[in-house]
Amino acid sequence: MSASPHFETQAIHAGHWTDPSRAVMPPLVLSTTFERGDDGLGFPGGFVYGRYGNPNRQALETKLTALEGGYETVTFASGLAAAQALIHTLGAGSHLILPDDVYFGVRSIAENLYPQWQLRVSRVDLANLDALRAAITPQTRLIWTETPSNPRLKLTDLAAVAELARAHRILTVCDNTWAPLLQRPLALGIDIVLHSTTKYLGGHSDLLGGSLSFAQPGPGLEQVRLIQKTGGAVPSPFDCWLLARSLATLPLRMRAHAANAQQLAEFLQSQPGIEQVLYPGLPTDPYHAVAQKQMQGGFGGMLSIMVKGGQAEALKLAQGLQLFKHATSLGGVESLIEHRQSIEGATSVAPANLLRVSVGLEHIDDLKQDFAQALA
Ligand SMILES: Cc1ncc(COP(=O)(O)O)c(C=O)c1O
Repeated sequence: MSASPHFETQAIHAGHWTDPSRAVMPPLVLSTTFERGDDGLGFPGGFVYGRYGNPNRQALETKLTALEGGYETVTFASGLAAAQALIHTLGAGSHLILPDDVYFGVRSIAENLYPQWQLRVSRVDLANLDALRAAITPQTRLIWTETPSNPRLKLTDLAAVAELARAHRILTVCDNTWAPLLQRPLALGIDIVLHSTTKYLGGHSDLLGGSLSFAQPGPGLEQVRLIQKTGGAVPSPFDCWLLARSLATLPLRMRAHAANAQQLAEFLQSQPGIEQVLYPGLPTDPYHAVAQKQMQGGFGGMLSIMVKGGQAEALKLAQGLQLFKHATSLGGVESLIEHRQSIEGATSVAPANLLRVSVGLEHIDDLKQDFAQALA
């Protein structure tokens, strides 16, 4: 497909391929192996073995690259498999900077899986650029950003972090799981974008996946590709097919998620039982100015609420909702609510009265009504 600046068009057409049947929608190729050509040596179909590559995975990676505006994308069986692949590329004795409230699974990989490599990890409030500058050492290889963060919706000024990192020749990654398309980290100078494609990109809570999109070719990309092919944590052909299908509606879904979340955040802010609403689209939110600067497509579909009275009141509210399912995860068409501290466990930094809300695509009046009855 020729290059197109419009997400809606790329989401449908990028990576599209046709097989000899001329099927309009790409077929699903489940075969794990591909036949050699007449010379007995080559692979004229371009594929060898399912772990190395598959037409559905290739189509998906092309589409994701177009949507992130990158050079190349490598996909994995989950978001954390993608995160681990990237952390795995850091040499022994490296220093990694994580946000102070990075997704707890990423923190667990960095802190628990690499002690034999003497990986040093610092957790820094990335809203404070002086603190970030002070944390950089000659061994710092990667600055991890996640914005908005999970679950406290802290925002990181991506352009400012990218500029600082570049001056120190340090790579940057942005976990863009919470705001796909709404913000474009590579255009802001970030080197790599990570997604848990399980969330908004999949959009229907029925597949697991992860991706790393690189802005440029280079040794980091080559190593990650090697880890994908030889480590083998690859997404199945069916999950690739399903995800590519879901991506066609991503631009529309993200706009609708963000519109619903904005209205729900404003409604919840006016409710006496709610202590605080964390949502970057609220003018009163401390991160609103950064959000206006870098979330040009909208402020996302995620918000968190602090419930007056503490954990017991929060759990009561979550259980009292009827449309919002009390379950972990996010980014699906259905609305979810979750008590974050109890799922993260002992090392959680989430307050006990915090509920994280993934605002789905139901009618906004029904979502408000559900909260109204549960708070009553
Ligand atoms: C921001 C963020 N990054 C990464 C992950 C991990 O993704 P997965 O569950 O697909 O491994 C999650 C999961 O909730 C997440 O919210």
